[in-house]
Amino acid sequence: MKISIKREDSYVEYDVLSSDVTLLEVLNEIKSKVDATLAYSSGCRSSVCGSCAVRVNGKEVLACSYKAEDGDIVEPLLNTPLERDLVVNMDKAYSFNAKAKAWQSTIVQNVKLTDEDEKRNALQSDCIMCGSCYSACPVYATNSDFLGPFSLTRVWRYVSDKREQNPKDKIDNIQVNGVWDCTLCNACTLVCPQDISSKADIEKLRARSVMFGYNDPSFASFGGGFGFDGTPSF
Ligand code: SF4
Ligand code: SF4
Ligand code: FES
Repeated sequence: MKISIKREDSYVEYDVLSSDVTLLEVLNEIKSKVDATLAYSSGCRSSVCGSCAVRVNGKEVLACSYKAEDGDIVEPLLNTPLERDLVVNMDKAYSFNAKAKAWQSTIVQNVKLTDEDEKRNALQSDCIMCGSCYSACPVYATNSDFLGPFSLTRVWRYVSDKREQNPKDKIDNIQVNGVWDCTLCNACTLVCPQDISSKADIEKLRARSVMFGYNDPSFASFGGGFGFDGTPSF
């Protein structure tokens, strides 16, 4: 099987002996038997840590779960600084969780959660921070201040938690470079290994924003709606 890997500005083709194996096993074979300088990230080898995300034939995958095929072209994630070969620096994308206040801030005590309450945001808690959605997002590609898919998914996780005492504070914080900047293209959903739909979470955050008096600024500019502080902007 032949696999091409993007290394710096060129593609290097490798002949690999293994077959019917994951891409991570292929990378391990190349590193141990052919070229020890190949750089890539991995950890758990079981789709849990999120560290091995790369692009294969233009689509984001986890190397430890993707079954390698003859002719595959492997590249690093997009929209994030390249360290070397397939290793990228995710610090900026991770920092958006803090910028988006994607945590539980003030908890109402003694609130009993029903099964329904727990189901509402169980999926969003499964994010493994692999960064695939940031790589696939066309808005983040052109606006690096966009809070982006996984941070907004995480905001919804806490806004929808009925123990959160101040959800409006979180909604206030995602109006600029946040919910209204997403084009709802769904690219993030299609690449998520955890089946999380950030697009759907962003739609829910938009609905919640409207409940708090906000409106899509692209409609507001036509002469109606509400400003970012919730006051009418007619
Ligand atoms: S939302 Fe999905 S694609 Fe995005 S970082 Fe989390 S697990 Fe990865
Ligand atoms: S749906 Fe929104 S967040 Fe997801 S990839 Fe498209 S623009 Fe980015
Ligand atoms: S090595 Fe942890 S998700 Fe692939």
